[in-house]
Amino acid sequence: MNKNKEVRVVLGNSIKVYGTYTIVYPDGSEEEITDSKRSFCRCGFTKTMPFCDNTHRSVITWNNLKGHHK
Ligand code: FES
Repeated sequence: MNKNKEVRVVLGNSIKVYGTYTIVYPDGSEEEITDSKRSFCRCGFTKTMPFCDNTHRSVITWNNLKGHHK
């Protein structure tokens, strides 16, 4: 696994991004992230948007590879 440039999408979990990348916020501001691994929320329930705070573990179940909120 090359962690310098990689995005890992795991069903039932966040999106993990490794390497150098730019986050563009809704107001148009940008933040460049270098040499980092971060987990981005895709369930919408995190309190630390855009990052995952593991809230998905208590609000999402997976059924036949499709996400369902409890
Ligand atoms: S994916 Fe982890 S809190 Fe949303």
